[in-house]
This record gives sequence, C-alpha cells and structure tokens, in this order.
Amino acid sequence: MVPSGDDGVATVEEGFALCRQAAKRGTYLLYGTPHVNDDLPLTSERERIVRGNAKRLTELLHAMGLELRVGFELHPSVALRDADLRRYRLDRFDAVLLECPLESDTGYGVDQIFAAADRIESAGLLPVLAHPERSPAFLTEQRAGGEAARRGWLLQVTAASLLGRNGDEVARFAWSLLERHNARLVASDAHRPDRPPFLDGALTVLSRRLGRRRAAGLLDGTALGVAAVREPASAS
Ligand SMILES: [Fe+2]
Repeated sequence: MVPSGDDGVATVEEGFALCRQAAKRGTYLLYGTPHVNDDLPLTSERERIVRGNAKRLTELLHAMGLELRVGFELHPSVALRDADLRRYRLDRFDAVLLECPLESDTGYGVDQIFAAADRIESAGLLPVLAHPERSPAFLTEQRAGGEAARRGWLLQVTAASLLGRNGDEVARFAWSLLERHNARLVASDAHRPDRPPFLDGALTVLSRRLGRRRAAGLLDGTALGVAAVREPASAS
C-alpha cells in the first residue's frame, strides 16, 4: 500500500483509497511491506521515498482510525547477503518479513529459505515467513512448515489462499498449516485494487472453520503482540 517502485500501488492516492476501504471493513493497523530483492534493493534513495510516502499516507489515514506502519518483504537472496538486516524490520518489532519465493526456478528451495531465516534470527530478529503456502519450495516439502514453526518462526498465510483464489492445492496447504497450528498469522498480501488489503472475507471463512476467537487471533496481530498492546488503550 506504500508506493515504492515495486508491483504494489503506484501512487499515495491509490494506496489511500484502498486503505480507507480497509478501515471501513475493520482494519486498524496495516503494515506496508515493499519488496526488497536483487532487482529492487533498498537504496537510501528508495528508503527515503518509501518512508516519505508512508508519512503522507499516515497523515491521511489518521482520521480513519487506521495506523500505517512500514516493513519490507525481504527476498532470501538479500537476507543471505546483507550485513545489516535490522534496517528491514517491521516498525516497532524485532521481526523481519521474509519472502518465500513464488517462482519455482529461482533456486531458492527450503534449505535457502531456512538459511535466510537462520541469518535473520542470528541478527536478533524474528523471521516471519510470507506466504509459504504459495511457495513451490514449501509446497513440494510440506513438512518444512512444521519444522519452521518448531523453530519458533512465524508462518504467515495469505487470505486469498484461504478463499481458494490461488488454487485448490494452495488452499489445502494453507488450511492444513492453520489446522496444525503451524501458521499463526493471516495477512492480505495486498498489492493493488485487484489484490486489495481486505481481511473481512477471510475472517468469515476462518470463523466458520476455526471458531471466531481463533480467527480473530490470526488477524489481529496476536502472534506479534499487537493485540496485547491495543487492549489497554481501548479499555482506557
Ligand atoms: Fe511476497
């Protein structure tokens, strides 16, 4: 939702229109996570643009009751190489969103993704694995989902996968990750109007299948401690 030169929204106005709708559908905290990979490195110039756009969006969204924070979706290639991984943190968390590559020909299998996550962990940061259910590496080695969870890493499933929009095989794997308690986060992986930042549809199907309480916990940031932070504020 933060313009950054990647395949997400192109303008602040486009991001604002989508975030405003998300707020109306119940979202109160949204992380914008531009891609960082070999083709789109986080140069100081790009970071300045991203943070400037995020600041403008934050100002626009404040009145809607939606807080916008910045993180980055880090490709394993960068995570395995870069000396300073802390600069890719999700704002206010010692955690980094690690891309599980979607293309099968990248050469990034489970071993490379685990090595990248190990490196993030060695930097004192918690790896959050983005859309493992869509990644050929995990799809062909599904037990790795359990292994990643046992290591204490957070697995984040994409809402559209649960709604069947990424095919039956991906949907089955996504649900099994949740039912085995290997995945503890569900995110929109929003990019643009045809992949919007809405989670209400996922809340409906998650509630039906897993119960309302567990469904809410997958969407409200409980795994990262966000909900725990919010409760005292709303109670006061
Ligand atoms: Fe991604």
